[in-house]
Amino acid sequence: MADNRAFSYIKGSSAVANGTRGNLVLTAEGLEFQPDSGSKKISIPIEKIMDAAIEGTIRRRLCVLVYDSNARYYFSVSDQETWRDVISLAAGIYRKILGINPGSGKNSGGANQNPAPVRTQAPPPVTPPPPPKAAPSAQKTITPAPAPSKVTAASQPRKAAPTAIPQAPPQKSSPAQPQPAASTPQNTSKPAYTGPWPSGQDYEQSFQILKMSINHSLGKIDQWEVVKNSKTTGWYVYASGNYGSIYKVKADDSKYYAIKCFTRKSGSLNDRYTKISNFLSTKASNMDFLVHFRYYEEGIKTRKNPAFFFPLLKMEWIDGVTLNNFVKMNIGSPRVLKSISENLLLSVSKLQKVGAAHGDLSGDNIIIGSKGEIRLVDYDGIYIPDFKGQRATEMGHADFQHPKRTGETFASSLDNFSALIIRLSLLTLAEKPEMWEKYNQNDPDCLILRKKDFLDLNNSEAYGVMMKTRNKSVKRLGAMLEDYLSRGPLWDGASPHDILSL
Ligand SMILES: Nc1ncnc2c1ncn2[C@@H]1O[C@H](COP(=O)(O)OP(=O)(O)O)[C@@H](O)[C@H]1O
Ligand SMILES: [Mg+2]
Repeated sequence: MADNRAFSYIKGSSAVANGTRGNLVLTAEGLEFQPDSGSKKISIPIEKIMDAAIEGTIRRRLCVLVYDSNARYYFSVSDQETWRDVISLAAGIYRKILGINPGSGKNSGGANQNPAPVRTQAPPPVTPPPPPKAAPSAQKTITPAPAPSKVTAASQPRKAAPTAIPQAPPQKSSPAQPQPAASTPQNTSKPAYTGPWPSGQDYEQSFQILKMSINHSLGKIDQWEVVKNSKTTGWYVYASGNYGSIYKVKADDSKYYAIKCFTRKSGSLNDRYTKISNFLSTKASNMDFLVHFRYYEEGIKTRKNPAFFFPLLKMEWIDGVTLNNFVKMNIGSPRVLKSISENLLLSVSKLQKVGAAHGDLSGDNIIIGSKGEIRLVDYDGIYIPDFKGQRATEMGHADFQHPKRTGETFASSLDNFSALIIRLSLLTLAEKPEMWEKYNQNDPDCLILRKKDFLDLNNSEAYGVMMKTRNKSVKRLGAMLEDYLSRGPLWDGASPHDILSL
């Protein structure tokens, strides 16, 4: 990729990826990140780039989505809007103008063409423009990638869509209450969807034309409103993580809901969410730190694939701030930090008592309300007794997880390690607030310790600074961490009760 970069250079700047500073360069060949440290570079060939978007609420990052694996790469860059547009445009030109199917091999003749002159030749969208109220802003006009040739239904005219949507009676009860999952009966004659899973960008377009996109079995969609994110200019998305994008709507009952649209395909989504929903409404019905939801197997359509409904979750909208933002806001208030970590451990303990674990406790999956109440969101990695003997479908945020965690690590003690990391970090920050800026570095995916510290605790600078304290609890928790790392990820000697007793 680097050989002819001098002739195909499009854009370059300094950037941070995986906590490492380096140089990000886009050429007509693809995107390359070279860390300053000389460690392994990231290379994404142009034909593998599905799209680019900006993700995250507070620390917004450039996200590059990749075909095949649906993998995402995150970069912190200063001019992220320009980067997003340029990457999207370059990848779109590669696919459309050079006539190459997404994810297929590269057309060697086209990769070095200068993309700029063909900008105006992009074909018009396959669907009518959204109604004037929801007119897309300039940054939303990234032309959708062509639907894969296998998905023949995608070329059906959009007009036909509304009549095809079954009109179900409006829901009587609120999804905030315990309810079974609502899986729409599948039309067995319909071919299974095999194309690329929608990206955050695709769902963004769907929310521009909400009434045409959401399955009317969710309620009186005509009376729904999308609530735009006031923190972003012209975007609907509120937050996005590894598995989905979150949107806010005001539904026909005048309540606010979070809609989670999935950006990664998972074969077992329907079964898992049905079981989780049942669990929440039975064994965990008294746990107010959990968020009840309704799962819709056929929930939302995208412009690229107007004949298919993709699944979604509809859940109570949780007002509050994520743990990382909460720490940032309360970094000078030791009592607040201690009490939040205690509340969290008590919640984890309650979950364990009914044989469950959240599975991905992290800086953005814990929301703290105005009265300090804890709410856990994101149940993609949850363990419940029904899942005994199964493998985990995700590994959680690496900087909150035991480095030896694998798919087999799936039991009710799954949260012990992350609970210890959060307690240790928050008690340390209560003593040494200056460590936040130095070791968090505005990274929403970690607190002050990272996976690299867990892998080599004796040489970890952050751990070394942590342990230079007179605070006995911090010292004991640090020793417990050392002990834990020498054991397996499901060690039951570090239960929330054990952690709180130190
Ligand atoms: N019910 C909700 N109310 C408000 N914000 C939410 C809700 N659910 C999730 N979020 C926010 O959206 C972010 C992304 O959602 P999440 O379910 O964690 O997606 P992912 O699986 O991609 O990480 C969360 O980190 C959280 O900040
Ligand atoms: Mg999450």
